[in-house]
Amino acid sequence: MAGAARSGTLEEGQVRAMFDRIAGVYDVMNSVMTAGLHHRWRERAVDLARVGPGSRALDVATGTGDLAIELASRGADVVGSDFSEGMLDRARQKAPEITWEQGNALALAYPDGEFDAVTVGFGARNFSDLGQGLREMARVVRPGGRVVVLEITTPTKPPLSTFFSLWFDRIVPLLGRVTGEDQAYTYLPSSVKRFPGPAELGALMHESGLRDVRWILTAGGIIALHSGTVA
Ligand SMILES: C[S@@+](CC[C@H](N)C(=O)[O-])C[C@H]1O[C@@H](n2cnc3c(N)ncnc32)[C@H](O)[C@@H]1O
Repeated sequence: MAGAARSGTLEEGQVRAMFDRIAGVYDVMNSVMTAGLHHRWRERAVDLARVGPGSRALDVATGTGDLAIELASRGADVVGSDFSEGMLDRARQKAPEITWEQGNALALAYPDGEFDAVTVGFGARNFSDLGQGLREMARVVRPGGRVVVLEITTPTKPPLSTFFSLWFDRIVPLLGRVTGEDQAYTYLPSSVKRFPGPAELGALMHESGLRDVRWILTAGGIIALHSGTVA
């Protein structure tokens, strides 16, 4: 598993087991690694989902539920889905009023066109088949509805690229070691590096049946927010 973590590719069962294991430290690590900025990025992602009272939204790979909670704060009726029960347990504790369901993002148990919007935050990178995950997200959204992908991306221009490499390759694995979860926080930077860049991800979203695909880079080019509309 150590080699697989370093290459940023883990099998589905290994990904689920890893998130079950780190569920207890996940939120703290997120806040430490992003200096709390992840909340702002989630707000921007939810802006792109264009939901409000009366909308029905799904957040896949919802983890401890922060993106689903942001969707619900706009008045939408929200389902948060993830295959890790450990992560979902945390989500349930944070927001018992939201519907949390165990499920695989690559084989969603919802009918076609069920939702007005589907989001994924920092989860697409972990899909064993990204194309399949995007097609499933598009499938369960009604025509005209929105698909939003919030993900970490690798900045290409200095000085951010230098800082990113120092932070992700040295500090994040070190923080992981402090929490006793060094494999998970070695996997994280490696999985970001092997993930498609913004243009490639945009093309994959288009191939999945989405139109008007756009992306915004923020946080100095470290965060990509992709959105598209179901044809
Ligand atoms: C890095 S966490 C992101 C959690 C949350 N979305 C957030 O914004 O913080 C990735 C999550 O994706 C989930 N995940 C990865 N692959 C999945 C799949 N195929 N189906 C369902 N959940 C998946 C993991 O269990 C984990 O909770």
